[in-house]
Amino acid sequence: MNLNQTTLAYLPTIVAFILALKFLSSPKHARLGNQLGAVGMALAIAVTILQHDVIHSHNTTGYILIGVGGLIGSAIGWFGARLVKMTDMPQMVALFNGVGGGAVALVALVEFHQRIAGLSGRLALDVAVAIVISALIGSISFAGSMIAFGKLQGLVGDRPIVWPGQRIMNIAILAGGVTAGGFILGGHSYQLLWLLLIEIAAALSFGVLFVLPIGGADMPVVIALLNAFTGLSASAAGFELHQPVLIVSGMLVGSSGTLLTLLMCRAMNRSLTNVIFGAFGQIQAGVGGGTSNEGLTVRATTPDDVAIMLAYAHKVVIVPGYGLAVAQAQHDVRQLADLLTSRGVNVEYAIHPVAGRMPGHMNVLLAEANVPYTQLKEMDEINSEFPQTDVSLVIGANDVVNPAARTDTSSPIYGMPILDVDKSKAVVVLKRSMNPGFAGIENHLFYEPETSMLFGDAKDSIVKLIAAVKAV
Ligand code: TAP
Repeated sequence: MNLNQTTLAYLPTIVAFILALKFLSSPKHARLGNQLGAVGMALAIAVTILQHDVIHSHNTTGYILIGVGGLIGSAIGWFGARLVKMTDMPQMVALFNGVGGGAVALVALVEFHQRIAGLSGRLALDVAVAIVISALIGSISFAGSMIAFGKLQGLVGDRPIVWPGQRIMNIAILAGGVTAGGFILGGHSYQLLWLLLIEIAAALSFGVLFVLPIGGADMPVVIALLNAFTGLSASAAGFELHQPVLIVSGMLVGSSGTLLTLLMCRAMNRSLTNVIFGAFGQIQAGVGGGTSNEGLTVRATTPDDVAIMLAYAHKVVIVPGYGLAVAQAQHDVRQLADLLTSRGVNVEYAIHPVAGRMPGHMNVLLAEANVPYTQLKEMDEINSEFPQTDVSLVIGANDVVNPAARTDTSSPIYGMPILDVDKSKAVVVLKRSMNPGFAGIENHLFYEPETSMLFGDAKDSIVKLIAAVKAV
């Protein structure tokens, strides 16, 4: 293939990536979006392999190495994706993203090594800039993603790790890496390799140190941000390798990662600076209010009592949260909703944008149980309906229904938009104990007079509820 043919052959790939993003933005078409993305990637790999200059002078060892690497990578990816639990998906995304950033940094290193071999003067400026940027951002993304993975997997403490002078130290390390990169742009070949190694070492250290002070609850936001970094570094690598498909796809990842980061911050009513520097989650249980729960009582209830409330209600809103994913109770919830609907009850699901542990977590979970999309209501849409709701059934959700976010200025989640379940006529909360959610704070909703607690694993409780509703 000559250069023009290759560029033309990449066109369907780029169109497939853009359409994939379009379809991924709605749960209805997300599966198709995913398939289109995979087809686009397969095309990109095939076209790249068919190019003359990828494997120098058709060296068969190169093809064998690519084949073996591809097989090992595909096997790990296939088994990893099959074995991973839905609740562990954020870790997996962190790991995959980190591997992408690491690959970009390695490509920069190899490309650099090849280009300076035999070079007696300076490296062409455009190539040098692309190499410096891709090595810097790719290394930050790799190291940061590995720490994010460690935090979510429980290998590194998920609480923020902070110490005095931390920010100055981080800025100094980053400045060191950027300075080394700056010297590469104007340096001579004999100095260049060790300068690039210094830049990569500084970027790796910065990646680790930048994520350590961020709490586990904020990791999904950090992963989206690091994803944007990986996209940008891949795009820079595209300039270095003269690969238009890499430039465009890197930009697509970079811009969608940035948008996702900003959307998540908006859903939690926090700035990106607050997420990165706020050490959210550093303060522990007991925090959450100037108001204490001393003297307040919790009303425990039984499946039989809840079944009567549900069976005679006109409108029931189901509020799923992280606990639903842990209990894997999505199919049972659907059964309960179908049962209530068949008895004439109007059932809807209230979806908070950051319920669970990853963007779209509740949508994915409920889609798995074939819950009709028409029953899913976004926060802005459902909040005005709570005053007319007879029963809000809160299943494994906690922070996203905590009224302290609206009323308590001392609460770490103050200002985060929440689902106003406390405005409904009755609230039933399904959870195992009085333990806090991810933010580690008290929830006064559990002590309100209209609230009753159905303690137990969400799946067990819902199975009991189904039997009890049938008996009413
Ligand atoms: P959480 O506030 O984390 O609460 C989940 C609750 O589920 C816990 O209180 C837990 O109580 C209960 N639970 C766990 N396992 C259960 C089981 N098997 N059966 C019944 N209940 C169970 O969840 P949420 O309301 O979905 O809020 C999400 C949190 O994650 C927010 O703080 C949000 O800001 C944060 N976050 C999310 C995202 C995304 S993108 N989703 C991104 C960043 C941060 P027990 O232990 O007593 O059962």
